[in-house]
Amino acid sequence: GAPVDVDLGSLRPGELRTVEWRGKPVFVLRRTPEMIDALVRHDALLADPQSRRSEQPEAAHNALRSSRPDLAVIEAVCTHLGCVPTFRPTPGSPDIGAQWPGGFYCPCHGSKFDLAGRVFKNVPAPTNLTVPPHRFLSEAALLIG
Ligand code: FES
Repeated sequence: GAPVDVDLGSLRPGELRTVEWRGKPVFVLRRTPEMIDALVRHDALLADPQSRRSEQPEAAHNALRSSRPDLAVIEAVCTHLGCVPTFRPTPGSPDIGAQWPGGFYCPCHGSKFDLAGRVFKNVPAPTNLTVPPHRFLSEAALLIG
């Protein structure tokens, strides 16, 4: 599959865009400062906060799983059985639970991931979501693949 160009110029803070790369949906999220703060506060709830068992490019092998804190690029493919997780950024949720910190929720069997694609403990998905190979060509230009 060919690399995919993504124009980040129109992506607002807190906004999620889904693009397709190699036949798979990929989330591109511009995280707000509040989202970034929350990500560094819930490590104890995560199965693999350091992403030791997940796939990501070397430049994204950190807590935020990105070379840019404001931008997350994450394959939208649940690591359990491949459903597309839903974007549920708001903390607390009537159907997921009052303790939900905000993230991605897989409707198929209830796996929960944070806004860096890191999986929470005690869900069916075994690993964090995959971060595909990508790089930022400029402030407003992303290349996936
Ligand atoms: Fe996502 Fe099963 S496919 S929890």
